[in-house]
Order: sequence, then C-alpha cells, then structure tokens
Amino acid sequence: MKLKISQSEHQRRRIKLMELMGESSIAIIPSAHEVCRSRDTDFAFRQDSDFWYLSGFNEPDCVLVLIPNRKHGEYVMFNRERDLETETWHGRRFGQEGVLEHFGVDDAFPIEDIDDILPGLMEEKDKIFYALGANNHFDEQVMGWLNSLRKKVHQGELPVGELIDVRHLLHDMRLFKSAQEIKLMRHAAEVSARAHIRAMKKTRPGKWEWEIEAELKYEMALGACRFEAYNSIVAGGDNACILHYTENQHKLKTKDLLLIDAGGEYQGYAADITRTFPVNGKFSRVQKKLYNLVLKAQQAAIDEIYPGSDWSKPHKAAVKVLTEGMIELGLLKGRLLTLIKKEAYKKYYMHKTGHWLGLDVHDVGDYQVSGKPRALEAGMVLTVEPGIYIPASDKKASKEFRGIGIRIEDDVLVTDNGHDVLSKNTPKTIAEIEGLMA
Ligand code: GLY
Ligand code: MN
Ligand code: MN
Repeated sequence: MKLKISQSEHQRRRIKLMELMGESSIAIIPSAHEVCRSRDTDFAFRQDSDFWYLSGFNEPDCVLVLIPNRKHGEYVMFNRERDLETETWHGRRFGQEGVLEHFGVDDAFPIEDIDDILPGLMEEKDKIFYALGANNHFDEQVMGWLNSLRKKVHQGELPVGELIDVRHLLHDMRLFKSAQEIKLMRHAAEVSARAHIRAMKKTRPGKWEWEIEAELKYEMALGACRFEAYNSIVAGGDNACILHYTENQHKLKTKDLLLIDAGGEYQGYAADITRTFPVNGKFSRVQKKLYNLVLKAQQAAIDEIYPGSDWSKPHKAAVKVLTEGMIELGLLKGRLLTLIKKEAYKKYYMHKTGHWLGLDVHDVGDYQVSGKPRALEAGMVLTVEPGIYIPASDKKASKEFRGIGIRIEDDVLVTDNGHDVLSKNTPKTIAEIEGLMA
C-alpha cells in the first residue's frame, strides 16, 4: 500500500499550530503556483512545503487559513472551483465540496472570492501569522487586505493586529519528525540507496554522466519517488570539485572517481545521499588514501549524533579528522590546532558537514538557539556529508591529488538512545563498493 501521512496527523499539526498561535489570531498560508517552464508548458507542480505539511492537499492556487476558536470552523480553505471543461484538459480538482469531505476543512470558498472574505476574517484579530517575503505576489495581496482594514480603523473599528512570522512556530514543528514522517523518509532513503547501487553497477569507463543520471532516475521512479529531491549531481573526475555541478554531460574516464549526490522525494520528503567511487571499479592507491580519510571523518561526525549532543559537534569532529589528514598528506603545513583555528582546511573542505533534512532537502529549523548551537533531540534528521575537493587547477597540491573530489553523505535520524542511519543500505566502504562493482 502507498504510504502517506494520515488526515488525523495533519489535523494534529493544525491543532498544535493553533495552540501555539493563541487567542485572537489568524494564520494565512498560501499554496504554491504552477510555474512556466517554456511557453505553455509548466514545471511539474510541487506543493509549498508548509502548506503541504498542514493540509496534505496538492493543488495550486489555494490559501489555507487557521482561526483558533472560530465558531463557523477553525480550518478555512480558499481553493479552485470545479470546472468540468478545464478538468478535462488539465486534470481533476477537488473543489469546495471535495476539500470539506476529504481534507478535514471546516469551511471552503472559491479562491476568486478571497478579497471579499479574508479581510473580514482578519478583522479584530490581535495577531496575524504570515510568512512575509516568501511570495512577493501574495505579499502584495496581504498588504492590500491590511490597508483596507486600516482604513476601517479610521472609521472607529479596532486597530489592525500585529503581523508575526508564522515560520518561527511552524518550522520548529517541522524540525521534529513523527513516526509517520520517519517511515516516509526511510522509504525515500531506501529507494535512493537502490538508485546509488544501480548507478554503481552501471558505471563503466566511456559512459556519459547523463547515462548514469538516467539510471538513478529510473530506480527512483520505480520506487514511487517520481521526482528527485534536488537535481542530481553526477560528476566525474575534476567536475566533483564543483559542489553543485549539475551539467552531467561529460564522458567518464577510467582513472577518475565519480561523485554522485542524488536523492529521491517521497510524499514530499527528501533523501540526500552522496557516494564517490572509481569509474573502473577499483580505487587507486591515492584514491584510497583520500577516500578513507573522508570516510573516517564521516564516521567521527556520525558518532557525535545522539540526544544531548549539539549541532556543531559533528562538524567539529569532521574538521579535526580532515585537517589531521591534510597535514599527513602534505596538503597543509602547520600545527593542527592553529590550522583549525585559522580554518585552513576550508581550502579543500569549504562547506558544512550537514543540514536538517525533511520536506525540504535543506530543511527548516533554527541551527542556533540563544546564540548557542542547537541541542540534538530525538526525531531530528540531519545529513552528515564531509568531503575533500582538490581541483585540477590547484598547482600547490601534489600532482597525484589533483582533479579529485570526494564526498560521502548519509541521512541520520536522532533516536532516543543514539542515532539511526536511514541511508545505511548504500554501499560505503572500499570493500563494499569494489565488491559490488566487480
Ligand atoms: N544535495 C545537496 C546537499 O548535499 O546539500
Ligand atoms: Mn546534503
Ligand atoms: Mn547531497
């Protein structure tokens, strides 16, 4: 059966948000729009993550409104009306009746009527929760409604409420994954692991990067991850030193490594996995040295993930191992602590060791609380992705290291007593990778 978040969980989320909003408040959360790709062809529709989190409703051009203690219903939806002719051309719609029946909505109106109805719902509310700045077009509409209310204040009505960013509350909720969410993320990670395995098996010298990309996409789609969580990076040799390389159009050379950073999206939830392996199936002596260094850094970082640890610890652990290794390999010269303090490692390791993962690949949630790195708690999911990048153009590095970029990335859930690597089925040690490719 197809896994998805239950309607009762969506309802629990809305109730929790309304509790946090408190009395005399309203939250306004727009859906995503269709976006033109070329002329009259759109990009595949992707719902706005906040809207999706609260509704599980996958249509464009809607506005979700929550009004705690509203007599005629707390959960209000403005959405597209049904229209048989349009639906024949462009696809089914739920309409107002459909969202009342299937999505737990209390009160539904055609989106065309929003200007007439929403300002009335905002009237006399002390707090208006809205993510200002995320959607310029909708910002203008909200400002228009606020201004129309302000005019009424001059005529003796109560003052207009305070505008508060709904993301503070909502994104803190999204940071903690429920049992249902973890199931979906596990599925996304398992399908993505299979995609990486397929890519390893299909890789041969002389193939093109886009051929391997096709294998990844095939396996993801077969596992019901129709869309990638982000554009796949399939980077042979020196291309791996471009962190967000997505051209994927060069030929794979026998002596190069291939870096693949790819993850599927399942029911909106992302996987984000990177593996680096030899195009010809056998690591060279030099490749082994660098690979095992990154692997050691990754393990040291993963070991720092448990409740009560904090966000900065995995990165610090990875940086220490990588800097030690860079000294040993002659890439850096100096004392360990000085080089760490001066961030000398950034020449070859210029990004952070991870990020939150969830409905967005770089998921929401604060990384610091009161100026301190956030404590890790059960239910959080983060990536661990150290790397080393020595571009071919780096004339200072020893010749044998040039043109090598390595990253190893896994998705890690914080559990009650430690962690669980959701992407653990993706081969990672040299023995595992060489065994699979043999
Ligand atoms: N795939 C993007 C990242 O690793 O952050
Ligand atoms: Mn990542
Ligand atoms: Mn990645």
